[in-house]
Amino acid sequence: MSLRRIAVLVSGRGSNLRALVEHLDARGGLRSADVVLVASDRVDAGALAFARERGLPAEAVAMDDTHERSLGALLHHAAIDLVVLAGYVRRVPPSIVRDFAGRIVNVHPALLPSFGGAGMYGARVHRAVLDAGARLSGPTVHFVTDEYDRGAIIAQWPVPVFVGDNVERLAARVLRAEHALYPRTVDALAAGRVSLAPDGRVVGGLDLAAEDVAFTLVTDEETDSAHSIDQLFAH
Ligand code: GRF
Repeated sequence: MSLRRIAVLVSGRGSNLRALVEHLDARGGLRSADVVLVASDRVDAGALAFARERGLPAEAVAMDDTHERSLGALLHHAAIDLVVLAGYVRRVPPSIVRDFAGRIVNVHPALLPSFGGAGMYGARVHRAVLDAGARLSGPTVHFVTDEYDRGAIIAQWPVPVFVGDNVERLAARVLRAEHALYPRTVDALAAGRVSLAPDGRVVGGLDLAAEDVAFTLVTDEETDSAHSIDQLFAH
C-alpha cells in the first residue's frame, strides 16, 4: 500500500507533532504514512517552527472569512488522506469535518467522555480532573465530529492521578502518555488497522499488547517507576 498523506493541524508548541514525526521516522520502511503538511491558525506556533526545521511544508491559515476555503484548498491540493489535530484549539470548519469523516482525529488530555466539551482544553482539563478527585486520567484519541470531543473513541491510555498532584505535574504525565499513544494510533489508522464504520462504530483498534509499551501506566520520570496494570491487578 502506498504511504498515506497526513496533515497535522496545530496551534501551540507541537510536542505531539514532533512525537508523530519521530515515530514515523523510527518506523522507517515499516511506516504507513508521512506528514506532508503542517497548518496552523497561529503564525507564531512553535509547531510551525519545528515543521520548518524538519523541512515540512508549514502554513499559517488566516482566521478571517476565507479560512474554511483556504484550509480546505490546502488539504485537497496536498492530497491529504488523514487529518491529525495536535493541540489545535479552533473549531474545524464543517465542510472539512464532513469531507474527512472517519479520516480526522484528535487527542484530548483526559479520559473522554468525561472532562471534554467546548472550552475544555489545556490546564482547565487537568484542573477539572483534580477537582473531581478522579484517580485516573490519560489521553483519548477520537474521531472528530462537529461536536467537541464527542466523536467515537479510538484509543485511551490510563495515567494515575497521585495524591498531591497539581495541574503541571498531571499535565506532564498525561502528555508523556500522549506521545506514546497518539503516533501509534495514527499509524494504525493510516495502515487501515482501525477505521470508522458507516454506523459510527470503530472497527479494529490499536493492538496495545503488541507494542513494546503495552499496558504501562506512565508515571513521573523522576520516580522512575512504571507500574504494569498486571501488577496492579495482582494485589
Ligand atoms: C495536548 O495536551 C493535547 O492533548 C491537546 O493539546 C495539547 C497539545 O500539546 N489537544 P502539543 O502542542 O502537542 O505539545
